[in-house]
Amino acid sequence: MAVLGIESSAHTLGVGVVENGVVLANERSMYKITDKGMIPSKLADFHSNNVGKTIISALKTAKLEIKDIDAIGYTRGPGIGACLQVGQIAAKSLSERYRLPLFPVNHGVAHIEVTRALFRLRDPLALYVSGGNSQILARVNEPYRHYHIYGETFDIGIGNMLDVFARAAKLNPAWGSTVARASEGGKYIKMPYTVKGMDFTFTGLLTNAIGMLGRHPLRDVAFSLQETSFAMLCEATERALLLTGKRELLLCGGVAQSRRLKNMMQSISRNHKTRFGVAPNEFNADNGAMIAVVAEKMLKSGMKVRESDCTTEQRYRIDRAIIS
Ligand code: FE2
Repeated sequence: MAVLGIESSAHTLGVGVVENGVVLANERSMYKITDKGMIPSKLADFHSNNVGKTIISALKTAKLEIKDIDAIGYTRGPGIGACLQVGQIAAKSLSERYRLPLFPVNHGVAHIEVTRALFRLRDPLALYVSGGNSQILARVNEPYRHYHIYGETFDIGIGNMLDVFARAAKLNPAWGSTVARASEGGKYIKMPYTVKGMDFTFTGLLTNAIGMLGRHPLRDVAFSLQETSFAMLCEATERALLLTGKRELLLCGGVAQSRRLKNMMQSISRNHKTRFGVAPNEFNADNGAMIAVVAEKMLKSGMKVRESDCTTEQRYRIDRAIIS
């Protein structure tokens, strides 16, 4: 079975093709973000200009034609409304024209599931960290099969926090990865640290770090911000690992591309003798293959989706998505 997945929740337009769990293509067109941040209408224009070309190039890479595809998946949410709609319209059009089943996919579930599939993990505890999300999750079957949120950020996602700091520090491009580079050789300065059980907050830490700019060397502030925020994530994840007794640990999402965070999570995993999985960066950045992976599972499980559910939803919570 071959499934095509379209991801368009933010600045990346991704199209992936998966056949029996094997990724045949994972093509991307990425909008270049300026210092003005993400302007939804500009992103949507970019996606609509590129979605057709990216679908064609993904099929070409997969060495398949549209008649070889058995189902279409697309990101239902969460994400930026105008961007999600471009992916949804493209997916719906293909599904209607070629009479293919259509599967709306939760973006966060897709990040977890692609990693789970790559490492053949059965029932992991997942730390999902991206621009808008920072959550600790695991599968539960009641009252329906879904990812239960054991802990999460009370305010902003860790990726957004690092991006806002990068903009305030006038780093270019203003990304978390630039903060990581700026932190090299830095010394630790004490910063606010807020973990409540398995939940955490980042805004107090961010305000404090921005206030330190100009008073301390940038590399010390960047280093301390990164260390403090990652330590908060690790403490909460370790607590959830002990609470749930899971024997597998998974790290996913855009911020999972951070080498430092990978190392910290890996050492937690070693200490607790759990299996550990973090996907190659290609699957932690937004991509279409992860959407195709979930859509293929939905197809194989016989899941029936009502047309009224093939919508877009900017705030589609991960714990509302029924998983197969
Ligand atoms: Fe993502």
